[in-house]
Amino acid sequence: MKFFVDSANIEEIAELKNLGLADGVTTNPSLILKAGRNFQSIAKDICELIEGPVSLEVSSSSIDQMRAEAEKLRVISKNVVVKLPMTWDGLKVCRDLANSGIKVNMTLCFTANQAILAAKAGAEFVSPFVGRLDDTKIDGVGLIKEIRTIYDNYSFKTKILAASIRSLEHIKNCAITGAEAVTAPPAILKELVSHPLTDKGLEIFLSDWEKSNQKI
Ligand code: E4P
Repeated sequence: MKFFVDSANIEEIAELKNLGLADGVTTNPSLILKAGRNFQSIAKDICELIEGPVSLEVSSSSIDQMRAEAEKLRVISKNVVVKLPMTWDGLKVCRDLANSGIKVNMTLCFTANQAILAAKAGAEFVSPFVGRLDDTKIDGVGLIKEIRTIYDNYSFKTKILAASIRSLEHIKNCAITGAEAVTAPPAILKELVSHPLTDKGLEIFLSDWEKSNQKI
């Protein structure tokens, strides 16, 4: 399973990259706002740092503007994946870009039917929003399972990029389900290492070592 970092903060991305935990990056307009820096320079910095796919999102919803923005985004770097909203016009732009060999991530996916459309339109990735679905009392991981089954049934090539990840359980369950990738905030990726018994065990080992008066 690939780990993508859902962030526009270059320091956070760099730390995870050094541990082999940044197979790719996803950004969105809200993350750019949070980063508080110029979009072009953030995009350039991330694409220089990360070899894998970097999803950069359009900031419009009209077909002409999305096409124009997609063109500007794709020339930033060869690893840019153009992120488009799951709308009718978004699908049209997706099809055009896919026909020209440009990779697309169809974002804001909330149903299996939308995921089928993304695959039909030639998207490289589809991003089902697990956490935001959970917020509405619909099982987000359940959606990942549905999409996995459908994509496998018909050998669709589009990759499932589980997004809107809020918990360690989300990551584990998306992995069990067989999502090709998960994109998660840095804090959640870093939390994966934590377990109270690990902390307790380490405390005991360190204290016993001190009592032993030995040296390595
Ligand atoms: C995905 O590509 C999005 O950037 C992201 O996962 C959205 O997550 P959120 O629901 O926590 O904003």
